[in-house]
Amino acid sequence: MASNANFSFEFIEGESLLLRLDLAGISVSSGSACSSGSLEPSYVLLATGRAIELAHGSLRFSFGKNNTKQEIDYCVQNLVKIVQDLREFIENADGVGKVGNASCGDIMEISLKIDNDIITDAKFRTFGCAAAIASSSVATQMVIGKTLDEALEIKNKDVVETLQGLPPQKIHCSVLAEEAIKKAVEDYRDKKNN
Ligand code: FES
Repeated sequence: MASNANFSFEFIEGESLLLRLDLAGISVSSGSACSSGSLEPSYVLLATGRAIELAHGSLRFSFGKNNTKQEIDYCVQNLVKIVQDLREFIENADGVGKVGNASCGDIMEISLKIDNDIITDAKFRTFGCAAAIASSSVATQMVIGKTLDEALEIKNKDVVETLQGLPPQKIHCSVLAEEAIKKAVEDYRDKKNN
């Protein structure tokens, strides 16, 4: 009986879904599980012809014979809900900041809900390395409750500090988070003024 189910979502990094599922009490493997433990896309999925965007955005559920139908349904329903919530949040966001780094190809998007110039909620969608995902996750937590001007004060070094450090070659990942916040605030202000 097949016990593995693989789900792929274009331009949603598997690792960022994994974090959200973890918060819902569900442990899964990202697509990287078959790539020697690194955060690269699964070579197994790439070998089956899966596009790199989908291989990056893949999650693998491993179910055992003791898992009940209810448990399997719970996992799949939560995954679907998380992806739907994320898409809905982004579609209805007040400000969206999407940035990228040309040298590594990573993309980070931060979306904000804003009320009276206060950021009431924030979510991220990051297609990139673990440091970029961690930076975007921390950045979204840092901006909630802040005014727009306060959010613009957040620098990449604040993100690095909250993460308790990043290796020198990964500092640019935290810069993406600073830039994404700025762009999201600008996007909101542009929309408001037009
Ligand atoms: Fe480029 Fe992390 S390696 S954003």
